[in-house]
Amino acid sequence: MRTVDLIERKRDGEELGPEEIVSLIQGYLDGQVPDYQMSAFLMAVYFQGMADREVSALTECMLRSGQVIDLSSVPGVKVDKHSTGGVGDKTSLIAAPLAASAGVVVPMISGRALGHTGGTLDKLESIPGFRTDLSIEQAAEQLRTCGLCYLGQSPELAPADGRLYSLRDVTGTVPSVPLIASSIMSKKLAAGLDGLVLDVKVGSGAFMKKQVEARRLAQLMVAIGRRADKRVQALITDMNQPLGYAVGNALEVMEASQTLLNGGPDDLTRLSLELAARMIYSGRVARTLEEAREMAQTRLIDGSGYRKLKEVIQAQGGNPQVLDRFDLLPNANGAREVNSPRSGFVSAIDARDIGRAAALIGAGRATREDTVDPAVGIILEVKAGERVEAGSVLCRLYYTSENNLEEAAHVVEDAFRISSHAAEERELILEVVG
Ligand code: URA
Repeated sequence: MRTVDLIERKRDGEELGPEEIVSLIQGYLDGQVPDYQMSAFLMAVYFQGMADREVSALTECMLRSGQVIDLSSVPGVKVDKHSTGGVGDKTSLIAAPLAASAGVVVPMISGRALGHTGGTLDKLESIPGFRTDLSIEQAAEQLRTCGLCYLGQSPELAPADGRLYSLRDVTGTVPSVPLIASSIMSKKLAAGLDGLVLDVKVGSGAFMKKQVEARRLAQLMVAIGRRADKRVQALITDMNQPLGYAVGNALEVMEASQTLLNGGPDDLTRLSLELAARMIYSGRVARTLEEAREMAQTRLIDGSGYRKLKEVIQAQGGNPQVLDRFDLLPNANGAREVNSPRSGFVSAIDARDIGRAAALIGAGRATREDTVDPAVGIILEVKAGERVEAGSVLCRLYYTSENNLEEAAHVVEDAFRISSHAAEERELILEVVG
């Protein structure tokens, strides 16, 4: 069948057969299907969606486009955690060391900042010397010795996802349930995991704006994982305001360090503990979820999660002292305050705007080729629900260059809604799927 026929059938809402999806993706990887046809196909999927059978075929085909890592020589149950993308979300730097210090083996495949969302690899690379380009052998060795490694998607691991994601990023086709599900699950299933804890974000700073879409995405990913015989669970969590106070790479490492010393923001601590507990339970280190929650809490309070992150930083070439001495991290040289225009209550802080503003001053990238400035970002001084006075500081922008600074400050001003009444507190963990 000609590619154009497949595009037209998807455009008209028809279900494609697994072999048709395989031939399309294979053709794209081989160079027979050009970017413009794949873009049209992705847009058709964006509008028409996909049946579960099509998503399974797409995931399988993307997963088989590279190697499937065999971690069977590494003792222990391997569990990863993945977020669908948010703002200020540094839970991977907290939950993974907590779970690893409890005995779970965590091969964490992480991504980079894109658009308004942050990426764990960029946060870690703000630590001078930290390397995320480990070979599969190096990663396996580190898992044997310290139980946790952070690595990026390589050309060997689900390369079809790398190609498709870049195309989606520039064709407006990222926020699609079947495309996100197949993208995440193909790389996760290629990583040789036994279990996976998913954090599906919903709200202004997430790709899924409505809970019903987030639920569909969570259910789809859980079903794909279960069919592959993996233990998969998803939390649906609020991303209407940034998580914690810090947004920006080195700033988020600092906040993660404070959180691992049990001095972090309440929302970030609660979500990290819950994710860690579910990783511990999924890794069969605890018999019940309640026991797993206690283990995560103990690892936070006794500092073992903190020490585990230091061990990983050392193992991956970074200076572990950065967690105690923030002056060893890249630091901005200017700060610009954003003040409240009136007295009242903060009723909302649009996470997408905060993410966009941070990206504008260099914390994120507009295209995959851009480099990030590790030092810059935004620190919120208040969160939704808090009372502010006219002129009080809402947040500070930390910058190294004044390029885009005023535009970013305006975006941030618009992100804060100040009203005369205190809004009802939002739940952070909205649902559990699986
Ligand atoms: N994260 C991914 O890995 N893929 C997506 O499509 C969206 C978020």
